[in-house]
Amino acid sequence: MLFEFLSTGTMLGITGIAFYQKQNSINETDKILKIADNCGLYKGDEHLRIYRRTRNKKLKFTEYVFMTPLGLSEKDFLDKFDNFKDGLNNKSVRKIDLKKFTELKFNKTLPKQIRDIFDYRQDLKKELEMDYDGMLRIRVFDHGIVNQFNYDNELLKKVSNWKVPIGITHKAFIYHDFDKMQILIVAGMTRYGKTVFLKNATTTLIHNEPDNFTATLIDLKGGLAFARYKDCKQVKALATNKDETLAVLEDIEVELKRRQELFLKNGWEDIGEANWKERHFVIIDEAAEIAGFDQVDRDRAYYLIGEIARIGAGLGFRLIFCTQYPTVDILPRQVKANTSAALCFKLKTSNQSMVVLDKTGAEKLPLGVPGRAIYQSDQERIVQTPFISNAFIDDLIKPHIKINIKSKGEVKNEQQTNTEDEATGKYTTVFEEAGLFNKKPNTKNTRSKK
Ligand SMILES: Nc1ncnc2c1ncn2[C@@H]1O[C@H](COP(=O)(O)OP(=O)(O)OP(=O)(O)O)[C@@H](O)[C@H]1O
Ligand SMILES: [Mg+2]
Repeated sequence: MLFEFLSTGTMLGITGIAFYQKQNSINETDKILKIADNCGLYKGDEHLRIYRRTRNKKLKFTEYVFMTPLGLSEKDFLDKFDNFKDGLNNKSVRKIDLKKFTELKFNKTLPKQIRDIFDYRQDLKKELEMDYDGMLRIRVFDHGIVNQFNYDNELLKKVSNWKVPIGITHKAFIYHDFDKMQILIVAGMTRYGKTVFLKNATTTLIHNEPDNFTATLIDLKGGLAFARYKDCKQVKALATNKDETLAVLEDIEVELKRRQELFLKNGWEDIGEANWKERHFVIIDEAAEIAGFDQVDRDRAYYLIGEIARIGAGLGFRLIFCTQYPTVDILPRQVKANTSAALCFKLKTSNQSMVVLDKTGAEKLPLGVPGRAIYQSDQERIVQTPFISNAFIDDLIKPHIKINIKSKGEVKNEQQTNTEDEATGKYTTVFEEAGLFNKKPNTKNTRSKK
C-alpha cells in the first residue's frame, strides 16, 4: 500500500515535472517573442519567428533558434541582452522537487504536504547565452551560477602544473594557466574574496609543483593571511612591511639581472629555451598600501614591480598583483601594459572597473556575494571562485613545511646546554637550513634609488 502510494506520488511528480517543463519552454518562446517586440526588434510587420527549439538534458538548457526580420543586425539583438535576461527572470516559478515525495509523512497533514510540493515557488535565476549567425540563438540555462562552492580534493584533481582554479560559471569549470598568462591582476572591494583567491593559488601551486614553485609573498596587511605559508619550503620570502617589501623587490631585481646575463651568455631566448623548470611567483596582497610609502620608496617599489612585469615573464617570474583600490595611480603602468588577465570581484565604481577590465561591469556584480567575479583572459566570464578553508590549506601544505628551523642564536643557546644533541651532530643540519633559508628579508640591503 505504502509502495503503491509512493509510486503514485512519484508518477504524479514526474508527470507534473514533464508537464511543467513542456509548458515552461512554450511559455518561454512566447516570452522571448514578446520581449523582442517590446524592445522594438521588428521591421514593419516582420517579427522574430521561432525556427527550432531543442533541449540539452546534460547541460540543462533549452536552445531557441529564431529567424530574424531583414534589416536587423547582430548588434541590435546583442544590445538587448539584458532586456532578454531580465524579462525571462522576472517572476518566481512553481518548482516541483521530486525528492520531497519520498519524504512525505503519512498523517492527517498529508494533503497539505502534497499541496505544498506543488505550490512551492522559486525565484528564477536563469542564465542566458545569445549569439547570431544569420539566425538568433538563445540558450536559456535552467540555473544561474551558484553562490558558493568549496575547494576540495575533486577540484584539486582538475588542475595540474601551473594551472590554478578560477571558479565555475553557470556551465563550466575555469582555470588560469600561469604558463600561458604570466601576470594576473586581482581587484575587488573589501571582503569579496581576493585573499581567499591568493591562498587558493598559493596552495594549489605548492601542492602541484612542490619542486618548481618558488614564492615571494608580499602581504601589506600585516602578514596575517600568508603567515601559514611562511615555513613552506617553496616560500623564499615573506614581506609584511615597507622595508621588507623593498628588500625582497631589490633581491628580485638583482636576480632578474643575473638571469638576463646568464641567458644572454648561453644564447637562451627565454625560460622555456633554458629548459628551466622553476617559476618564481611574486604575490602582492593589497598593493594599494604601496601608495602610502613615502614618495622615493613608492616610486622605487612601483619601478621594481614594473620591471617584474616588463621583463620577468621570459625569465621565469610570475606576478599576481592584488588591490582593493584599483586606480591609475595604484596599478603601475608596466603591470597594466603587460597583463592580459584579470580576476575582478565587485568594485565600487565603473571607473575602477575601467582601470582593471577596460570596461565597466564589475560595479554591477551582485552585492553581498563573496567569490563572484569577472574573469577576463582570452574571453570574459562571470565566475564563482572556490572557497578554500584554512583547515584544507593546512592539510595540503603540511608535507611542505620545514620543521625545526631555528635562528642561530636559539641554536647556540641550546648547544651550550645540550651536549648530547651536539654530539649527535643534529644541529649541523639546522644551522645549514637556517642559513640557507632566511625567510625574513635582509632589510639592510643597500637600495639603489632611482
Ligand atoms: N570564493 C568564496 N566563496 C564564498 N565565500 C568567500 C569566498 N571568498 C571569500 N569569501 C568570504 O569572504 C570573506 C572575505 O574574503 P577575503 O578575505 O578573501 O576578502 P578580501 O577581498 O581579501 O578583503 P580585504 O580587501 O578586506 O582584504 C572570507 O572570510 C569568506 O567568508
Ligand atoms: Mg584581503
